[in-house]
Amino acid sequence: MKTDYDRISKEYQLSKLQPWRKFVEAHTFFKLAGDLTNKYILDLACGDGFYSRQLKLRGAANVEGVDISKEMIQLARGSEEKNPLGITYHIQDVLNLKLNKKFDLITASYLLNYAKNMEEITQFAKVISEHLNPGGQFITINSNPDYQAPVNTLRKYGFTRENESRLEGGKIVYRFYQEDGSHIEVINYHHEKATHEMAFQFAGLSNIKWHPMELFSELVNELDADYWKPIIDTQPVIGLTCELKVAI
Ligand SMILES: C[S@@+](CC[C@H](N)C(=O)[O-])C[C@H]1O[C@@H](n2cnc3c(N)ncnc32)[C@H](O)[C@@H]1O
Repeated sequence: MKTDYDRISKEYQLSKLQPWRKFVEAHTFFKLAGDLTNKYILDLACGDGFYSRQLKLRGAANVEGVDISKEMIQLARGSEEKNPLGITYHIQDVLNLKLNKKFDLITASYLLNYAKNMEEITQFAKVISEHLNPGGQFITINSNPDYQAPVNTLRKYGFTRENESRLEGGKIVYRFYQEDGSHIEVINYHHEKATHEMAFQFAGLSNIKWHPMELFSELVNELDADYWKPIIDTQPVIGLTCELKVAI
């Protein structure tokens, strides 16, 4: 069954407060995004705007966010009302997205792993390609296809990850735990690295590179490095970057 973020929007928002989100996930995401100064940015699967806001605060000229979940976008618009940053949010399925404009940078934190099959991942790649300026970049983080570890390996970071199968479209089940021990379940779909690469090449995107998650290194001296070892060793999440070539 597809994950309905309308039903778990607040609990998912709470899961973004776990330390690994900041010191591993966000650290890697912004390293891949590079210099944001004066960039026009489209944040796909923006959720409650967790990254959209930070992209704007870090120097982007303009940020637009897109998400299929009305509740997630309501949270994003609520933050925008409280602290206006000039971000526009759209409730839309990325599979059918046509904004009729182009961006310097497109970001997506956990979009591709919602593609249920090769057709959907190819359609995501096509939409990304159509919304990029020539020379524009796409940066994303998603479930790492190569992750393999016992189910409780990541429990101390507030979540678990389990692959039901490693076939294309096989379910990946995440459980995000709250402080009271209750949890929400999020379903993603497995796709091999080669499947992603084929989809992006087919959509005319090039210079496709995979990037491991990194720990914010300034932290290592302060906190026990052993604490971070399981997540860095097993790499549940992975970065991917590519670009739309400038036509010659
Ligand atoms: C794991 S959340 C990530 C949210 C945000 N990027 C973050 O990192 O906090 C995944 C988001 O993808 C959205 N999503 C899934 N499939 C989508 C689609 N086809 N089009 C637009 N949004 C989608 C969900 O509604 C959800 O908000």
